[in-house]
Amino acid sequence: MSKYVLGIESSCDDTGVAIIRDDGHICANMLASQYVEHEEFGGVVPEIAARAHLEKMDQLIIAAMRESGLNFNDLSAVAATCGPGLIGGVMVGMMAGKAIAAAHNLPFIAVNHLEAHLLTARLTNTVDMPYLCLLVSGGHTQILVAEDIDRYKRLGTTLDDALGEAFDKTAKMMGLPYPGGPYMQKLAQDYESRCAENGIDPKDIIAKYDLPAPLTQQKNLDFSFSGLKTAMRKHIDAIEADVISQQDAEELAYAFHQAVIKVLEKKLTRAIEQFKIDYQDALSALNTPPSLVVAGGVAANSFIRQALEDLTAAQNMTLIAPPVRLCSDNGAMIAWAGYERFKRGLVNELDFAARPRWPLDPNAEKRIGAGVKA
Ligand code: KG4
Ligand code: ZN
Repeated sequence: MSKYVLGIESSCDDTGVAIIRDDGHICANMLASQYVEHEEFGGVVPEIAARAHLEKMDQLIIAAMRESGLNFNDLSAVAATCGPGLIGGVMVGMMAGKAIAAAHNLPFIAVNHLEAHLLTARLTNTVDMPYLCLLVSGGHTQILVAEDIDRYKRLGTTLDDALGEAFDKTAKMMGLPYPGGPYMQKLAQDYESRCAENGIDPKDIIAKYDLPAPLTQQKNLDFSFSGLKTAMRKHIDAIEADVISQQDAEELAYAFHQAVIKVLEKKLTRAIEQFKIDYQDALSALNTPPSLVVAGGVAANSFIRQALEDLTAAQNMTLIAPPVRLCSDNGAMIAWAGYERFKRGLVNELDFAARPRWPLDPNAEKRIGAGVKA
């Protein structure tokens, strides 16, 4: 008989509720995003986020159950994000999950949001562990190795801003709406198309802005994006007009993307080298080439996807980039991570405490400034 898991996500600004079947079929996947609520503040306001999760949660659970055609008693387990993230929101989803588990006598599974991002690849593709992961979201930027369920090794993390945060903050400086990542992408794409029409190489613009590629001279696999953000601010401040012209905005967005890609390529090339050496035996036991999994909202970026596609092809690796709607926060990834843990007998008690900080690799060295991004 098939098993079904309900998954609940509420760690940032997306309320997600989904039901997945044990073969990976997504029976329902409901999402309510809070763009409108946070737009005027240019970023996520924790208190507003928690209230918005509370307002939407019940309706989404009812809608997901209805869409799946299941009853609560048909479920095998209930999974909810219990961290890391904004604690008010996390508590809303966690308590909803615990209440359903208690009322229907179902196992409860406390899901680490980051683990769920990394396991999404196994919902959409057949991929064996170990695999290398690039997690790039609004809250996190990490390179990790997924060694096993519940066992991850962090190779690098950001020391300051997450990549999505750098996109959003730069976009805000340019007067773009929140979240700015997709708007930045659109501007860069428009620039590329305009160059193509005029027979210009878009890469010529890189020298004009000369943006930094922070930490690429260092051997470690850590990131820093605050210097890039500051460099962008200087260019934006140097523009005398009150409103940035379309041309300047397109050029800046394109140059920003190229700087980001340079950093990602440098760090990932080193990470791949290390991964292939450190996991040599496990990788040779696989019947497939090693995989790089990309996850998190920024993985939706078409320039980044293309750069990773080229990089992995050159390294005889397979890039696994789940569809955009499963890369950014959603309930299906929580339900799937819940199922993977349930299958291993990793269930939790109802007194499990929410964890605003919850590093995937407890043995990783602390990074000053990284905070919850570690
Ligand atoms: O994973 P996610 O939905 O939520 C977090 O856990 O943070 O990621 C949201 C982030 C935001 O910073 C958003 O601007 C960024 O992902 N993002 C993008 C794109 N789509 C979403 N960044 C760059 N290009 C995109 N196309
Ligand atoms: Zn996320």
